[in-house]
Amino acid sequence: MSGFVEKPEPLQVPGLVHLHTGKVRELYQNEAGDLVMVASDRMSAYDWVLPTEIPDKGRILTQLSLWWFDQLADLVPGHVLSTELPPGAPADWAGRTLVCRSLRMVPVECVARGYLTGSGLAEYKESRTVCGLALPEGLVDGSELPAPIFTPATKAAVGEHDENVSYEEVARQVGAETAAQLRQTTLAVYGRARDIARDRGIILADTKFEFGYDGDTLVLADEVLTPDSSRFWPADRWEPGRSQPAFDKQFVRDWLTSPASGWDRTGEQPPPPLPQEIVEATRAKYAEAYGRLTGVRWR
Ligand SMILES: Nc1ncnc2c1ncn2[C@@H]1O[C@H](COP(=O)(O)OP(=O)(O)OP(=O)(O)O)[C@@H](O)[C@H]1O
Ligand SMILES: [Mg+2]
Repeated sequence: MSGFVEKPEPLQVPGLVHLHTGKVRELYQNEAGDLVMVASDRMSAYDWVLPTEIPDKGRILTQLSLWWFDQLADLVPGHVLSTELPPGAPADWAGRTLVCRSLRMVPVECVARGYLTGSGLAEYKESRTVCGLALPEGLVDGSELPAPIFTPATKAAVGEHDENVSYEEVARQVGAETAAQLRQTTLAVYGRARDIARDRGIILADTKFEFGYDGDTLVLADEVLTPDSSRFWPADRWEPGRSQPAFDKQFVRDWLTSPASGWDRTGEQPPPPLPQEIVEATRAKYAEAYGRLTGVRWR
């Protein structure tokens, strides 16, 4: 079982047409035809969107994305047009709303990995490959790869798993030229971001980008390099051979799978609400990631 524990009811704002409720974001179109992306405080884990929100999460992730778009602007254009609130939008949208170019999205999750963990590790254990790419013997959970790799995945609907696919499969689906451009841009952006994060004591283990086309121009879309789309590990605690501590929803995952939650991940029941201390610890982790990366303390 999976999906929304409580289906969110999108706000209606005059002048905006509601397009889509994502796991985390609400998408609207404004009268100019641009996309208005509003990041909620919703949190997903184990394919569920949880019934408890993390206060400020949408704002922290939006501000972090904006900071990254600036760091990457010379490598690839970003989709953000403005941070101005649409007229008539509720005050709560401030800081979490981006007006973006409405793109023809490429239906591929463009993942770059510099370290082995998660679904990459699972595949490696089976076949010594990740997305069909051969890797050396002897790697363990958290190992740095000889060089970063492009490991694309298909985009799954809410409640479904993304599935890793080979580069050849991507080329079949979107064409060889687009596939090559996705791989090249994904690895270039990952390399830049990894170096910036490393300077700040953070390992960017892997990350997921989404791209779209504005005419013939490939544009970096969605959120970028946030703890929801990336694995960030504190560099001073990195120790291959075990799962690494992370700047993300680890507290939530640990609590949900602990006896304290009373929840069975493999059962039919939706996950329960989060206790206050888990909410606060998680909010603090997101704020800490923002502060460490940008050098500005989250207010
Ligand atoms: N510039 C853009 N133009 C068009 N669509 C975009 C743009 N940037 C992001 N998107 C889309 O907006 C949605 C963001 O919402 P969110 O991340 O909450 O959804 P998701 O759960 O990841 O995916 P889904 O939309 O399948 O539910 C994604 O579907 C993403 O592909
Ligand atoms: Mg998303």
